[in-house]
Amino acid sequence: MTNQGIFITFEGIDGSGKSTQTKLLENALLDLGYDVVMTREPGGSVGAEEIRALVLQGDPERWSAETEILLFTAARRDHMERTVLPALEAGKIVICDRFADSTRMYQGLSRGDLRALVDQLHDLMIPKDPDITILIDMDPTVGLSRAKGRETVEERFEDFGLGFQQKMRDGFLKLAHEDPNRIKVVDGQNTPDAVAKSILDIVKAALV
Ligand code: TYD
Repeated sequence: MTNQGIFITFEGIDGSGKSTQTKLLENALLDLGYDVVMTREPGGSVGAEEIRALVLQGDPERWSAETEILLFTAARRDHMERTVLPALEAGKIVICDRFADSTRMYQGLSRGDLRALVDQLHDLMIPKDPDITILIDMDPTVGLSRAKGRETVEERFEDFGLGFQQKMRDGFLKLAHEDPNRIKVVDGQNTPDAVAKSILDIVKAALV
């Protein structure tokens, strides 16, 4: 276990500013001389990117919640095997835009309570949890208008609407409350620079 890298994940509702903040953290860590791998879920490996198109595009009712959990977990397993674990073993810092907490919220809460199933599959298939998770907390009315403003084809979950985003915001905050050592909450409504500074402070504290 010597020379193991650090696994940092970012979570939050749609439009919470994760993409901007993952990039700012990557640049800040590169400037400090760290070896950084940036990745994302669903995706982050060739096979998982193929699964990404299946799960994010098309009609919101395209998959049942159970099938979706299997697809996200399959994508995650491939991403771990091919991208995340090799980088950590090489001592790198891995920054991942979304990870298992997104499955706990989106698939666990979107159509009934499937959280137990998500956790069971996770325990069976995913060999490593993040060292640090940054939760960017955001008012869903602000987040959703930002996310919809992008007009991409990957809108299956944004199409579930405001009520769902509100439920997820509460769920993410509850997760953070249950696991405060791993999950650190940052207020996403501050300016991007202020948010970036809070995140860098959290990460630096974990690097010493
Ligand atoms: P992402 O590309 O991070 O979108 P955004 O920048 O708008 O937050 O994530 C794409 C979508 O995938 C997002 O709506 C959440 C969804 N998702 C799940 O439903 N389950 C998962 O396990 C993951 C990783 C993502």
